[in-house]
Amino acid sequence: MEQKTKENVYTAFVGEAKAYFRLLAYAEKAEEEGIPQIALLFRAIAEAERVHATRNLNLVKDLLVKDTDTNLENSFQREKTVSENAYPEFIKDAEVEGESVVALAFSQARDAEIFHAKLYERAIYDVIKDKVSAYHVCQVCGYVTGKKIPDKCPVCGVSKEKFKTIEG
Ligand SMILES: [Fe+2]
Ligand SMILES: [Fe+2]
Repeated sequence: MEQKTKENVYTAFVGEAKAYFRLLAYAEKAEEEGIPQIALLFRAIAEAERVHATRNLNLVKDLLVKDTDTNLENSFQREKTVSENAYPEFIKDAEVEGESVVALAFSQARDAEIFHAKLYERAIYDVIKDKVSAYHVCQVCGYVTGKKIPDKCPVCGVSKEKFKTIEG
């Protein structure tokens, strides 16, 4: 694919992916305001933007999606970068500005990313490819475990009901 077109497809992918989440938030707001038809409209367009995002992603798939060993390694490196560089900077800035709610969200996300990195590391160096077992994801902080659901999330402290199970 030509360079400029490739950049535009990637930009469109990112824009559509963001729109998906923004529209779901708009739908939630419309629901709160008691306008269910508008909530449905936002939800329907969100679904359409998800279709666009996926279509754009597929157009540059060769660029973004490699073989699984490479994808695991990339994902591991990204988790390390966000937990060691990006989030610590964000946390510092939030603290300087006295934004304690945001600082807490960032620091829990940072801690969760460290666990994500560990899970990838295990997947890279350990042999887990010949079995299929569920993962559990904290819906508050994004902590993930492949073991049983803890009574309390080790990162943010919420109870086990807040976990969502991802299984095959
Ligand atoms: Fe992560
Ligand atoms: Fe959590």
